[in-house]
Amino acid sequence: MKILLTGSKGMLAQDLIPVLKESHEVFAPPEEELDITKRDVLYNSLNTTLPDFVVNCAAYTNVDKAEEEREKAFLVNGIGVQNLALVCADAGTPLCHISTDYVFDGENNKPYTPFDNTHPINTYGESKLAGEKYIQWILKKFSIIRTSWLYGIRGSNFVLTILRLAKEQSTIRVVNDQVGSPTSTVTLSSGIKKVIESGAYGIYHITDETDGGISWFDFAKEIIRISGLKTEVIPITTEEYPRPAKRPRYSVLDMEMTRLAIGFKPVDWKVALTKLL
Ligand SMILES: NC(=O)c1ccc[n+]([C@@H]2O[C@H](COP(=O)([O-])OP(=O)(O)OC[C@H]3O[C@@H](n4cnc5c(N)ncnc54)[C@H](OP(=O)(O)O)[C@@H]3O)[C@@H](O)[C@H]2O)c1
Repeated sequence: MKILLTGSKGMLAQDLIPVLKESHEVFAPPEEELDITKRDVLYNSLNTTLPDFVVNCAAYTNVDKAEEEREKAFLVNGIGVQNLALVCADAGTPLCHISTDYVFDGENNKPYTPFDNTHPINTYGESKLAGEKYIQWILKKFSIIRTSWLYGIRGSNFVLTILRLAKEQSTIRVVNDQVGSPTSTVTLSSGIKKVIESGAYGIYHITDETDGGISWFDFAKEIIRISGLKTEVIPITTEEYPRPAKRPRYSVLDMEMTRLAIGFKPVDWKVALTKLL
């Protein structure tokens, strides 16, 4: 298949591109050449590349800054995605889009399925939900893949932040009352490839397996343990670590439909983390 990928310099894209290239022809222009907020640029790119699939890794991802940059977040995550959906509809090309657990409010006590009601509690989540909605309003052939707590060997992510802090400080304080599932870009990339190749359309959830969820504190402790560092990790509450954007208290994503649709086998989160470290 010929695949056109947006957001090529991002954390996920950098790991996804080589995985897709194993079996497909991938066109991944830099953001300067493929800005999703510019519909005419997207039209031209689709018309010259003539892809069989478009994969959108482009996004505004700064959760806290989105509270002050609401317009920018909605321009990229809402209107940018609308642009992609419109040009894909025009060309009859399916779109695979990446979304987030932050479309949920975190009030559930069991993992969220793709059929649960969305209700974001921060601007980033609202803007990502806008993108999901435009895709569903405009396109017949789409897959929306929701993931959570994404990390990889590059980019700005929790694992690299904890490793840096653990080398600088003898103790670190980490929130223990927000529960979710980390996801390695490696797991997500192979899941995205499977979704695209299977032609399964709809909303799918892909994360690493945590058996009901772990907290950021649990995650940090494991990062330190595997890395052989001696830094002490102290559990704190969300109130003790105020941030501009609210976070869902619980955002584990249920992957049953992903397993049934594409035979996706989740990877244990500790195994995925050990591989990365
Ligand atoms: N990171 C997480 O924890 C997490 C969790 C759940 C879901 N997700 C979702 O997973 C996807 C990938 O995330 P990621 O962590 O790889 O994000 P990332 O590293 O921030 O990558 C996003 C890329 O999109 C680019 N971009 C921004 N605006 C653009 C535009 N108008 N046109 C084209 N490209 C543009 C960014 O460029 P600049 O850096 O120059 O702005 C960046 O290179 C996103 O959809 C995100 O919402 C992420």
